[in-house]
Amino acid sequence: MKVLLFGKGGQVGWELQRSLAPLGELVALDFDSTELHGDFSRPEALAATVEAVRPDVIVNAAAHTAVDKAESEPDFARALNATAPGVVAQAAQRIGALMVHYSTDYVFDGSGETPWREDDATGPLSVYGATKLEGEQLVAAHCARHLIFRTSWVYAARGGNFPKTMLRLAKERERLTVIDDQWGAPTGAELLADVTALAIRETLRDPAKAGLYHLVAGGTTTWNGYARFVVEEALRRGVELKTTPDAVEAVPTSAFPTPARRPHNSRLDTSRIRNTFGIELPHWQTGVARMLAETL
Ligand SMILES: NC(=O)c1ccc[n+]([C@@H]2O[C@H](COP(=O)([O-])OP(=O)(O)OC[C@H]3O[C@@H](n4cnc5c(N)ncnc54)[C@H](OP(=O)(O)O)[C@@H]3O)[C@@H](O)[C@H]2O)c1
Repeated sequence: MKVLLFGKGGQVGWELQRSLAPLGELVALDFDSTELHGDFSRPEALAATVEAVRPDVIVNAAAHTAVDKAESEPDFARALNATAPGVVAQAAQRIGALMVHYSTDYVFDGSGETPWREDDATGPLSVYGATKLEGEQLVAAHCARHLIFRTSWVYAARGGNFPKTMLRLAKERERLTVIDDQWGAPTGAELLADVTALAIRETLRDPAKAGLYHLVAGGTTTWNGYARFVVEEALRRGVELKTTPDAVEAVPTSAFPTPARRPHNSRLDTSRIRNTFGIELPHWQTGVARMLAETL
């Protein structure tokens, strides 16, 4: 089997390089790859890459993920998040490949307190959310055999992430102020990559499993709850901090104005993926604790 991966250097792309390797021959590209074109800002050239590689499976982990920056460069965000995945999906359909793509909780407006299901009405609040929604719609429309995973609050051991920022601040300051009115599930790139590999195998065996799925870790928290957990875990591991969990102050989203609006309710209902593929999604604290154990 041959697998073509776009966006190999990102949080999820990096973990996919590991999890997809046992499936077969892996051709992994980034935007600056030289032998084959992998730059999503020039979408029209991507079809030639797909046709040159002729993979059985295409996995797209490339995206414009700078949520606030997207507000001031909507055309660029749209090229990366919508037009390019659409071109790849058309090429995938032509060669009969399965296409895997990632989307986001930001396709919803964040109202209410109930976890969103796959078929709930969307209503993005930001350019990032709107372009990601257009991207998933194009992939679904152009490539019959697709897996689209909507996820949230992605972190990885590699590179910068929210827990590392909290730890740095907790070493410098006695008190932290962290938003307490956005709800979601921190989800590890590792978990996303492992479930992706498993779902690919299952969907190649049973094409009826193709479709749109919500894929996040178990449990729910706020950014404030997330930060408190990180501080607690670090202290338990003997890291010297100036902050304690109780000194992580809760503030509303309005305390930190940003160019892009974020949903308050990012809870995603994962029944569909758990039932279809017969998998368990571990609690978010399990993955975050493991990532901290690795990085501390
Ligand atoms: N991060 C989150 O919290 C989150 C939440 C929900 C959904 N998602 C979705 O999950 C997927 C993976 O996200 P991630 O967290 O792994 O994001 P990421 O770390 O920002 O990775 C995105 C990748 O796209 C690459 N890229 C940037 N410009 C490109 C271009 N012109 N052509 C080709 N590739 C380009 C980036 O390269 P450089 O690093 O070199 O720029 C990077 O390798 C995305 O679809 C994202 O929308 C992410």
